Amino acid sequence: MDIKKRLIIFNTITVVVPFIIVCLTIFIFMFVSSKVFSTNISYDNFKKLAATKFELINAVKDVSKLNPESIETAGFQEYLYQKLSAINGEVIIIKNNSIIFASKDITKIDIERCLDEAKTNSIKKAVKIDNISYMVETSSLNFKDSSTGNIILLAPLEKSMDIFEKFIITIVAIFFASFVAINIFMSYLFSKRILKPISLLKKATAEISRGDLSFEIVESGDREIKELCADFEGMRIQLKDSIRMKMKYDDNRKMLVSSISHDLKTPITSIKGYVEGILDGVANTPEKTEKYLKTIYSKAEQIDIMIDDLLLYSKLDLNQIPFNYEKTDIAEYFDYCIEESAPELQKSDIKIYLKNDLKEAKYFIIDRERMRRVILNIIDNSRKYMNKENGQVTIMLRETNSSIIIEIKDNGSGIDKNDINKIFDRFYRADLARSGTKGSGLGLAIAKEIVEGHKGKIWAVSCENEGTSIVISLAKIS
Ligand SMILES: Nc1ncnc2c1ncn2[C@@H]1O[C@H](COP(=O)(O)OP(=O)(O)O)[C@@H](O)[C@H]1O
Ligand SMILES: [Mg+2]
Repeated sequence: MDIKKRLIIFNTITVVVPFIIVCLTIFIFMFVSSKVFSTNISYDNFKKLAATKFELINAVKDVSKLNPESIETAGFQEYLYQKLSAINGEVIIIKNNSIIFASKDITKIDIERCLDEAKTNSIKKAVKIDNISYMVETSSLNFKDSSTGNIILLAPLEKSMDIFEKFIITIVAIFFASFVAINIFMSYLFSKRILKPISLLKKATAEISRGDLSFEIVESGDREIKELCADFEGMRIQLKDSIRMKMKYDDNRKMLVSSISHDLKTPITSIKGYVEGILDGVANTPEKTEKYLKTIYSKAEQIDIMIDDLLLYSKLDLNQIPFNYEKTDIAEYFDYCIEESAPELQKSDIKIYLKNDLKEAKYFIIDRERMRRVILNIIDNSRKYMNKENGQVTIMLRETNSSIIIEIKDNGSGIDKNDINKIFDRFYRADLARSGTKGSGLGLAIAKEIVEGHKGKIWAVSCENEGTSIVISLAKIS
């Protein structure tokens, strides 16, 4: 729910609920008063009260319209009496503090009370005379002999009408009390719904600023707050990623420095040795000099390859080179790879075959150049670590429901089962490889980066002295 909607609902509740409470109170009040106290607080009673008041006020108006002469006439007094008798009313006319007409026996004290009550501002001016409650209306009179007086009009109030007024006051009080109570309650609920998620968010941001980026921000509360939490969470993840990336950069740099110093030192040391040999005149024949120079050249080449591999690996590892995917004919592609590697293999007397068991799949989506590097690297390893006379490399293609499997199998030296999991690590070279053949120890690490860049998998199966299979699985085109 969004804050706007919640605000509308809460405000509606604050108005509607007190209204319902008031209605219920009215209902209960009416029910109890009619059943228990047998007083009827009905709309009729309300009408009756209003009518009585209206009659009294009308009668007062009639009096004020009259000229002073007629007030003292018996006709007028009779007219008033008749008019009020419809509501069982009484009329008292006072001149110079003495009663000149009274339809009811009334004491001087009661007259004073009536006059006092009439002066008050209350809505319902009432006095109790002889245990009967009357509604009072008065009007001052001017007689023709210029003496003054008052006219007092009384209308009896029923007991239920008395209760009626109290009832109205109670209802108004209940409405205000419930309105205030519900308002406070709703404001509390509303603030809780907003403040709780905000305090969680505050805690999370405090944790983040303290450097704890693993503190997950859980979305809670209303839509707007949830969106805010989601944005913060996005920010946290991005921050975490960038820190991870930075750490990886640092790690890579450290690794590069240490590997350069370690792996490049060996060929450089031998280059230095051979150059010294030439300078010192150890290579004293043209043949020897040529041999030395060739060795220097090959060591320099080795350094060159290593640096190239290092740069490529570091770029791949940091996802700096975009992949250029193309839909490629599988069989055609491997024919081309075989064609390219065949001359090198031929030099070492190694034969290469393609065994295509693909039935449905004809195409796959790859970055042709990068995948070529992977395949040629694996084939080159097979060549480098071949220890048999009749060397053989077979590329086997097959498929499962969802993948294309490429297996490059050789009958070379094989890999020790303790080393098999390490060969894809950067700079890993088995002792044998380290001592003899050229290489950076990055070939398979680069292959792994590239295959994983294709969302594929690469692994090795090997039997020492029997041969090695490097297996790649790539997703089929759906
Ligand atoms: N076909 C293979 N037969 C035997 N050993 C292999 C084969 N392929 C890879 N290896 C082992 O895995 C190591 C890592 O290979 P790689 O990353 O290509 O590095 P490099 O070829 O530069 O040594 C090699 O040094 C070698 O010990
Ligand atoms: Mg290699």
